[in-house]
Amino acid sequence: MRNHSQKIMSSSSHSAGRLRRDLGLVGAVGIGLGAVMGAGIFVVTGVAAGVAGPAFLVGLAVAGVAAAFNGLSSAQLAANFPQSGGTYEYGRRLIHPLAGFAAGWMFLAGKLAAAGTVAIGFGHYASAMVPGASPVPMAVAAVVLLTLANLFGVKRAGALNLAIVLLTLGALGCFVAGGWTQVDGANFRPFAPHGWHAVAESCALLFFAYTGYARLATLGEEVREPARNIPRAIVLTLILSFVVYLSVGMVAAGAVGADALAASRAPLETAAATFGKPWIARFLAAGAATAMLGVLLSQILGISRMMLAMARNGDLPRFLDRIDETRSVPSRAIVLTGAIAATLAIAGKLEAVIAAAAFTILIYYALTNLAAIRLADSQRLYPQWIAWAGLLACIAMAVSLQPRTILAGTGLLAVGFAFRFRAHRLASGRKDDP
Ligand code: ALA
Repeated sequence: MRNHSQKIMSSSSHSAGRLRRDLGLVGAVGIGLGAVMGAGIFVVTGVAAGVAGPAFLVGLAVAGVAAAFNGLSSAQLAANFPQSGGTYEYGRRLIHPLAGFAAGWMFLAGKLAAAGTVAIGFGHYASAMVPGASPVPMAVAAVVLLTLANLFGVKRAGALNLAIVLLTLGALGCFVAGGWTQVDGANFRPFAPHGWHAVAESCALLFFAYTGYARLATLGEEVREPARNIPRAIVLTLILSFVVYLSVGMVAAGAVGADALAASRAPLETAAATFGKPWIARFLAAGAATAMLGVLLSQILGISRMMLAMARNGDLPRFLDRIDETRSVPSRAIVLTGAIAATLAIAGKLEAVIAAAAFTILIYYALTNLAAIRLADSQRLYPQWIAWAGLLACIAMAVSLQPRTILAGTGLLAVGFAFRFRAHRLASGRKDDP
């Protein structure tokens, strides 16, 4: 495998140019869905059901609306500035270079930690299906394979992603079709046993399940006809996720009740086990594994493009801004992303970083909305109140997090600024050298 990746790296020339626009609308929607559908629907649903009872369904719907406000901000920014880097670029251009840096750094910190965790999540599912396999080697193998897929270019990675997404959607579709007849109205009563405050908390938790809709903005440089395709792909991703999540949530809660979902580490499989068709539970477990793979694939895509964008401006070491011209990929950034994700998966113990990641991603989206508020009227695709609503939703969810999470996230940001300050000082020192 190493030889193969070395071959890919050495057979092509590298430049500091631009990436090719190789992604059409279907591939772009696939990347969006691959980034969105993951641990959120397969795992967090149970946690949210424990917090709010069956009313977690209201939390799921409201989280979807909050995600839609945020997604529309990303969509109109990406349509105006279709480049790698997403909010890193928008923040730099429309707010301040430091705001852009904060967005980029928070994205890298949050998504790298998440990539390590998703890889381990996949490792657990895969090792349960393959007798004798243990989770960490499976996690590392997944990272290596998906890193290689990324090195082959966005077109091939997009095709693989599409196959993964179809399997995940197939599993969730079978779950809904097979479980619909098992829904029992009694399982929805009492509807909100822990009060409406708990519903708000479930909403903040479930927002995670929709995150990923902005991945396309990070890949803005690689989408064909970006002004048309990126907004369409983001909106389609959000609508499809909303419909699938609500159907799945209703069937799961209606079939076994919120308490049974809350008591399980694999709540959808727990529900599927009662459908009387064992193949649905097995297909669903496979769907959970492919969902993790899809998220991981798109995380490597997004993180590497963010590294590329930041390196172009000297906010990360310049050697990361090289592009493999044959396959039109930022190969160094991809390899570094894979190496860090694999290391994190091996190291484990990511709880604190993951908690901080919830805060980091809300800061990222808050900055997206701030940038969208600052768009000129001629650049705007949607009314300005949508960006304000997105910003308020991010702030409301950020303050609902535990104080130690907010502190850890702020600490991560401080480390980032210290890093940037030092990197820029070193760079200007070098320039001053005679
Ligand atoms: N939305 C992604 C997930 O649910 C991050 O895993």
